[in-house]
Amino acid sequence: MNILILGSGGREHALAWAVKQNPKCDRLICAPGNAGMASIAECAAFDINDGGAVVAFAEENAIDFVVIGPEAPLANGVADRLRAAGILCFGPSQQAAQLEASKAFTKEICDAAGAPTAAWAHFTDADAARDYIRAQGAPIVVKADGLAAGKGVVVAMTEAEALAAIDDMFDGAFGDAGAEVVIEEFMDGEEASYFILCDGVNALPVGTAQDHKRVFDGDKGPNTGGMGAYSPAPVLTDEIAATAMREIIEPTLAEMAKRGTPYQGVLYAGFMIKDGHARLVEYNARFGDPECQTLMMRLGGQVLDLLIASAEGSLDQVQVNWANDVAITVVMAAKGYPGAYDKGSVIGGLDALVEDSKNMVFHAGTALQDGQTVATGGRVLNVTARGETLTEARARAYAIVDQIEWPEGFTRSDIGWRAL
Ligand code: AMP
Ligand code: GLY
Repeated sequence: MNILILGSGGREHALAWAVKQNPKCDRLICAPGNAGMASIAECAAFDINDGGAVVAFAEENAIDFVVIGPEAPLANGVADRLRAAGILCFGPSQQAAQLEASKAFTKEICDAAGAPTAAWAHFTDADAARDYIRAQGAPIVVKADGLAAGKGVVVAMTEAEALAAIDDMFDGAFGDAGAEVVIEEFMDGEEASYFILCDGVNALPVGTAQDHKRVFDGDKGPNTGGMGAYSPAPVLTDEIAATAMREIIEPTLAEMAKRGTPYQGVLYAGFMIKDGHARLVEYNARFGDPECQTLMMRLGGQVLDLLIASAEGSLDQVQVNWANDVAITVVMAAKGYPGAYDKGSVIGGLDALVEDSKNMVFHAGTALQDGQTVATGGRVLNVTARGETLTEARARAYAIVDQIEWPEGFTRSDIGWRAL
């Protein structure tokens, strides 16, 4: 099979690494890719958010299967364009990707499906939103409706903070995404993520994980795309997961199918868990980054068969063979991230690393320049390791971090603390 993976992050490097191990993979192309992907696949440069460009590239290169990594091409309808052209594709339609692209859409689906989630209200008028906040009181959560790169959510501990968030959002601080807001009940508890492959009808869980959103140790500092993750997430027990499948995931998928917009691809459910019960915080229409790196490490080459089954509608005919172990990812980011940071610093020590099915460095913001790997983004490397226990996996990952020579980078030193 000729396979095209869209994206350039650690998530897509991990997907490429897993797909490549499957004997069905003959030719692997990543677009746009990064230095890590370039070491295992061909890289191609074109606009991955332009459905016409993706279809044209796929046709010219006799691509049999396209895997869409990030949310932007999904929200732009790239999966629809590929399917219309008769090209097998992993990722939801533009309509189905609304589960990530619109908070209000997701809340409506939850209500229709009877899925447990925070109480909510939707506003397009700032005064009405302010009145609602004053009536409800704090803590309360204010969300810009559209895609805001993870920055459109304010968990307000005081009424004043919530009112300030309304001012910001209606002032255009979040662009068009802020013209509408969703205001939600604050949910207390511990967060964990559940990843479920869907084919429009069937749902197949492929793992749990926990992310570390804040930039500094002890969950301090501003939010990031994620500074590390581990899988499985002990807080999301088999029992809680099974109940969540029955109460949240299956009813959501049934509601999407009923509306004529069946969900195909991976559904990334963010749960708030309290007293042995999960409520939905949000859906994403893609794998989490860096959560995906830990899942790929545990799943390996079978991932390609699972992704194809999701795309073809045959998830009822496959099963997941679990490695009964733990994987962890420690993100190395450029100093200054998530604020301003320098680009172009050289990363040393990568060639000497021993990489295998238990120890991998997945690249995110890297490029090759004159034979050297240089940093080109905020999140740059994803050091990923497996072990019998989280303690073992974590020791391995930090030992690799120590071998990487990159003074301009930093990591959190406490990835996994919640589970330890
Ligand atoms: P979202 O983009 O909807 O996932 O929100 C980003 C983060 O805000 C979540 O991962 C939670 O940490 C927090 N959050 C969102 N909604 C709520 C809520 N209703 N109660 C408490 N925390 C929330
Ligand atoms: N790590 C969080 C996300 O991918 O949205």
